[in-house]
Amino acid sequence: MSVRKVASVVIAIALTGAACAGSPPEVPVRADGTTDPELQIGRDVYTEHCKSCHGANGDRRSDSDLTTLDSDDIDSLVDIVADGLRRMPAYSSILTDEQIDGVIRYSTEVL
Ligand code: HEC
Repeated sequence: MSVRKVASVVIAIALTGAACAGSPPEVPVRADGTTDPELQIGRDVYTEHCKSCHGANGDRRSDSDLTTLDSDDIDSLVDIVADGLRRMPAYSSILTDEQIDGVIRYSTEVL
Protein backbone atom coordinates (compact mmCIF):
# COMPACT_ATOMS: atom_id res chain seq x y z
CA MET A 1 0.00 0.00 0.00
CA SER A 2 1.36 3.45 -0.88
CA VAL A 3 1.95 6.07 1.77
CA ARG A 4 -0.90 8.14 0.30
CA LYS A 5 -3.28 5.24 0.46
CA VAL A 6 -2.35 4.48 4.07
CA ALA A 7 -2.86 8.14 4.94
CA SER A 8 -6.33 8.22 3.37
CA VAL A 9 -7.36 5.02 5.19
CA VAL A 10 -6.20 6.52 8.49
CA ILE A 11 -8.18 9.72 7.78
CA ALA A 12 -11.28 7.70 6.82
CA ILE A 13 -11.10 5.74 10.10
CA ALA A 14 -10.62 8.95 12.08
CA LEU A 15 -13.65 10.58 10.41
CA THR A 16 -15.87 7.54 10.97
CA GLY A 17 -14.86 7.48 14.63
CA ALA A 18 -15.66 11.16 15.02
CA ALA A 19 -19.11 10.71 13.47
CA CYS A 20 -19.90 7.85 15.84
CA ALA A 21 -18.80 9.80 18.90
CA GLY A 22 -20.47 13.03 17.86
CA SER A 23 -23.86 12.36 16.28
CA PRO A 24 -26.93 11.08 18.06
CA PRO A 25 -28.40 7.94 16.42
CA GLU A 26 -30.44 8.44 13.25
CA VAL A 27 -34.23 8.13 13.33
CA PRO A 28 -35.14 4.65 12.02
CA VAL A 29 -36.51 4.44 8.49
CA ARG A 30 -40.05 3.01 8.36
CA ALA A 31 -41.18 0.16 6.10
CA ASP A 32 -42.45 2.70 3.52
CA GLY A 33 -39.03 4.39 3.36
CA THR A 34 -40.01 7.55 5.30
CA THR A 35 -39.02 8.67 8.80
CA ASP A 36 -41.36 9.91 11.53
CA PRO A 37 -41.22 13.75 11.28
CA GLU A 38 -41.79 14.23 15.03
CA LEU A 39 -38.83 11.96 15.82
CA GLN A 40 -36.76 13.92 13.30
CA ILE A 41 -37.62 17.18 15.11
CA GLY A 42 -36.69 15.40 18.36
CA ARG A 43 -33.29 14.43 17.01
CA ASP A 44 -32.58 18.00 15.86
CA VAL A 45 -33.57 19.35 19.30
CA TYR A 46 -31.50 16.66 21.05
CA THR A 47 -28.44 17.46 18.94
CA GLU A 48 -28.69 21.20 19.60
CA HIS A 49 -29.85 21.31 23.25
CA CYS A 50 -29.29 18.01 25.07
CA LYS A 51 -26.24 16.25 23.65
CA SER A 52 -23.77 18.55 25.45
CA CYS A 53 -24.78 17.14 28.84
CA HIS A 54 -26.39 13.78 28.10
CA GLY A 55 -23.91 12.69 25.38
CA ALA A 56 -24.53 11.66 21.77
CA ASN A 57 -26.06 8.36 22.88
CA GLY A 58 -27.92 9.64 25.96
CA ASP A 59 -25.82 7.62 28.39
CA ARG A 60 -23.13 10.08 29.45
CA ARG A 61 -24.72 11.00 32.81
CA SER A 62 -24.95 8.15 35.30
CA ASP A 63 -27.56 10.08 37.34
CA SER A 64 -29.87 10.47 34.35
CA ASP A 65 -29.32 7.76 31.75
CA LEU A 66 -31.71 8.64 28.92
CA THR A 67 -31.37 5.17 27.36
CA THR A 68 -33.34 3.59 30.20
CA LEU A 69 -36.25 6.07 30.47
CA ASP A 70 -39.68 4.64 31.26
CA SER A 71 -41.86 5.23 28.18
CA ASP A 72 -45.02 4.72 30.32
CA ASP A 73 -44.13 7.92 32.12
CA ILE A 74 -44.10 10.38 29.19
CA ASP A 75 -46.01 13.13 31.06
CA SER A 76 -43.49 13.41 33.88
CA LEU A 77 -40.57 13.35 31.41
CA VAL A 78 -42.22 16.23 29.51
CA ASP A 79 -42.54 18.10 32.84
CA ILE A 80 -38.84 17.56 33.64
CA VAL A 81 -37.76 18.98 30.28
CA ALA A 82 -40.28 21.87 30.39
CA ASP A 83 -39.71 22.87 34.04
CA GLY A 84 -36.21 21.54 34.77
CA LEU A 85 -35.10 19.44 37.76
CA ARG A 86 -32.23 20.49 40.04
CA ARG A 87 -29.23 20.86 37.64
CA MET A 88 -31.35 19.98 34.59
CA PRO A 89 -32.28 23.27 32.83
CA ALA A 90 -35.92 24.23 32.05
CA TYR A 91 -36.85 24.41 28.35
CA SER A 92 -40.45 25.72 28.38
CA SER A 93 -39.34 29.19 27.26
CA ILE A 94 -36.83 27.88 24.70
CA LEU A 95 -38.66 25.02 22.97
CA THR A 96 -42.22 24.67 21.64
CA ASP A 97 -44.53 21.93 22.99
CA GLU A 98 -44.05 20.11 19.68
CA GLN A 99 -40.25 20.21 20.09
CA ILE A 100 -40.46 18.95 23.70
CA ASP A 101 -42.83 16.11 22.70
CA GLY A 102 -40.47 15.25 19.84
CA VAL A 103 -37.34 15.18 21.96
CA ILE A 104 -39.03 13.02 24.62
CA ARG A 105 -40.24 10.59 21.97
CA TYR A 106 -36.75 10.56 20.44
CA SER A 107 -35.21 9.91 23.89
CA THR A 108 -37.57 7.06 24.80
CA GLU A 109 -37.90 5.45 21.35
CA VAL A 110 -34.52 5.96 19.66
CA LEU A 111 -31.86 6.45 22.37
C1 HEC B 1 -26.72 21.51 31.56
C2 HEC B 1 -26.80 20.08 31.38
C3 HEC B 1 -28.08 19.47 30.84
C4 HEC B 1 -28.69 19.74 29.64
C5 HEC B 1 -28.27 20.74 28.58
C6 HEC B 1 -29.83 18.87 29.57
N1 HEC B 1 -29.91 18.10 30.70
FE1 HEC B 1 -31.31 16.66 31.11
N2 HEC B 1 -30.51 16.39 32.93
C7 HEC B 1 -29.39 17.00 33.42
C8 HEC B 1 -29.17 16.58 34.80
C9 HEC B 1 -28.04 17.04 35.70
C10 HEC B 1 -30.22 15.68 35.12
C11 HEC B 1 -30.47 14.98 36.46
C12 HEC B 1 -31.36 15.88 37.27
C13 HEC B 1 -31.38 15.47 38.71
O1 HEC B 1 -32.00 14.45 39.01
O2 HEC B 1 -30.75 16.17 39.51
C14 HEC B 1 -31.05 15.58 33.92
C15 HEC B 1 -32.18 14.80 33.83
C16 HEC B 1 -32.93 14.63 32.71
C17 HEC B 1 -34.07 13.76 32.57
C18 HEC B 1 -34.64 12.88 33.68
C19 HEC B 1 -33.94 11.55 33.60
C20 HEC B 1 -34.48 10.53 34.57
O3 HEC B 1 -33.72 9.60 34.85
O4 HEC B 1 -35.62 10.65 35.02
C21 HEC B 1 -34.54 13.87 31.30
C22 HEC B 1 -35.72 13.14 30.67
C23 HEC B 1 -33.68 14.81 30.63
N3 HEC B 1 -32.71 15.27 31.50
C24 HEC B 1 -33.81 15.17 29.30
C25 HEC B 1 -33.11 16.21 28.71
C26 HEC B 1 -33.44 16.72 27.40
C27 HEC B 1 -34.50 16.15 26.48
C28 HEC B 1 -32.59 17.77 27.18
C29 HEC B 1 -32.57 18.70 25.98
C30 HEC B 1 -33.81 19.39 25.69
C31 HEC B 1 -31.73 17.89 28.36
N4 HEC B 1 -32.08 16.93 29.25
C32 HEC B 1 -30.72 18.83 28.50
C33 HEC B 1 -28.59 17.88 32.74
C34 HEC B 1 -28.86 18.43 31.51
